[in-house]
Amino acid sequence: MNDRLKQTQDMLARHHRDGAAFAQMMKDTFDGRFNEDFWAMWQQNVEPALSDTPVILDLGTGPGMLLKALAARYPQVRAIGVECADYMLDAADDLPEGCETIAADLHDPHLPLDDGSVDAAVASMVLHEMHQPVRALQEVARCLKAGGRLYVLDWVRAPLAQYLEDVELDVFAPDTPMDALEDLFIHFIEHNRFSSDDLVFLLENTGFRVLETSALKDGRQARIIAEKI
Ligand SMILES: C[S@@+](CC[C@H](N)C(=O)[O-])C[C@H]1O[C@@H](n2cnc3c(N)ncnc32)[C@H](O)[C@@H]1O
Repeated sequence: MNDRLKQTQDMLARHHRDGAAFAQMMKDTFDGRFNEDFWAMWQQNVEPALSDTPVILDLGTGPGMLLKALAARYPQVRAIGVECADYMLDAADDLPEGCETIAADLHDPHLPLDDGSVDAAVASMVLHEMHQPVRALQEVARCLKAGGRLYVLDWVRAPLAQYLEDVELDVFAPDTPMDALEDLFIHFIEHNRFSSDDLVFLLENTGFRVLETSALKDGRQARIIAEKI
């Protein structure tokens, strides 16, 4: 294993805390991220760009729930998940026909896919977990056909007071353990990596035209739909 991949896996293991439990949480919360609103947006903005035998890429697929949902929706699909955490790849071990995973670090991915061979791509809750998303976005742009769509959903910057509203820890209590405080403030930085404008800027400089941007969860998350130019 190369040093960079090991570094990424160690960083993710710390960010996810308990890997197997986090994989289960991603399964349990899937329906919240990929709800009716998501599928209405998908039908309107992404589906028109799909071919009869669609190829769809899911960056940071986790336990592969989206791959399964896509296979149920499109019997002819080739749904490809990219992932590098072993506990996520293990949790994605029951994929139906048409689905596959590629074990790769998105910090510098070289995917075994031809230029322009992908119809659509998804990056759900993954870009904030990366030191830099430039190479991943460039690689997606290479793989997407012109007019192909990219869906991005992620945490975006919010004030600390707003971030703490969703946190159970009593941050200001004198007996709050140091480890818990440190863990919380490290996560605050990780979940506040980019603003919505930063994500748009990154997309516009990696081969995409942004079609739509929406704020979700009182501005804590951004949803962006972009088109490969
Ligand atoms: C928060 S989970 C989201 C999972 C899934 N996309 C969803 O929304 O249900 C982010 C996933 O991206 C993966 N990931 C983060 N950084 C990555 C990288 N550099 N290379 C490959 N996978 C990565 C993590 O291991 C994790 O499974």
